[in-house]
Amino acid sequence: MQATLYHRYGGPEVLETAEIPKPQPKPNEILLRVHAASVSVGSVIMRSGKHPDSAFFSFMIKIIGGWPKPRKKVLGYEFSGVVEAVGGKVTAYKMGDEVYGTTTGLSQGAYADYVCVPEKWSQGVVAHKPASLSFEEAAALPVGAMTALHLMKKAGSAASQKVLVYGASGSVGSAAVQIAKAAGAEVTAVCSTSKIALAKSWGANQVIDYTQTPLAQYPAHFDVIFDAVGKLPAKQLKVLLVPGGQFTSIRSLTSEKTEYLQQLQMLVAAGQFRPHIDKVFSRSQMREAHAFVDSGKKAGNVVVRMV
Ligand SMILES: NC(=O)c1ccc[n+]([C@@H]2O[C@H](COP(=O)([O-])OP(=O)(O)OC[C@H]3O[C@@H](n4cnc5c(N)ncnc54)[C@H](OP(=O)(O)O)[C@@H]3O)[C@@H](O)[C@H]2O)c1
Repeated sequence: MQATLYHRYGGPEVLETAEIPKPQPKPNEILLRVHAASVSVGSVIMRSGKHPDSAFFSFMIKIIGGWPKPRKKVLGYEFSGVVEAVGGKVTAYKMGDEVYGTTTGLSQGAYADYVCVPEKWSQGVVAHKPASLSFEEAAALPVGAMTALHLMKKAGSAASQKVLVYGASGSVGSAAVQIAKAAGAEVTAVCSTSKIALAKSWGANQVIDYTQTPLAQYPAHFDVIFDAVGKLPAKQLKVLLVPGGQFTSIRSLTSEKTEYLQQLQMLVAAGQFRPHIDKVFSRSQMREAHAFVDSGKKAGNVVVRMV
């Protein structure tokens, strides 16, 4: 089968296409034909071997991902696709089912014709694709939306609360705005000028353009602040909380759970959540897709069509 590989850390030019053996599912695994895969911030960080904001995280990437070369050669965490075969112990899926999810933790491997994923994993994460989502949309959902849902739950976002989503235009931020709105919160989104209309379309009640409004002029009345980009020191944002207000950030550890995907599916079915896709690339444009995400200016998600 064809896959996009990388043998060294670096820019998008390290990505190359090659033939590798088609995987065979273990008894607990599903083999699926990948239809779409996302280019998440996590994927470009693993490709480059560098975290943009932290020398410590850059060091940890090499410890986890392999040094001096990446241990796993095929990138790609998020996928959607069609089940082609199942292992003998799989009960919830059969050939032809449309599914989506993540390759669980650091396994990766979705930038290929086929990938095997466990039916169940301690924290993980495959589910039947909602019929109302395209394969591209389904591949864009898991990481950003599960991260947003996990952190929003941790912060205890609830009806009538005032919620600030700082960095509202990325994969996590666009999901956080929609999830807080679905919970009944009054949402203030912070983004740059070109993303204001999008933030409003996701349901933000107010939008602050961080390129025009200094932080000192933001209202200090928030019950919850969700930092979805991690560019500012936490203490600069925490002064905008009411006493007892909750601060949460994508810098903290998050969790992926199948139950999160199921909760997000309910929001999708209720018309309260839809992953935003900025651009869809063909698989021959994998380098271009990575370069676009490297620019740090994507809105929502970037997806590669794999069929
Ligand atoms: N903890 C976890 O498990 C976990 C999981 C997933 C992601 N993450 C992390 O979460 C972060 C967000 O990922 P992402 O995919 O949502 O998006 P991203 O690609 O990092 O962010 C894209 C958006 O961030 C905005 N942005 C950039 N600089 C900004 C600034 N100084 N102030 C406000 N907004 C700014 C940009 O919008 P504008 O054009 O509006 O500036 C862009 O649209 C990444 O650092 C990622 O590594 C963590």
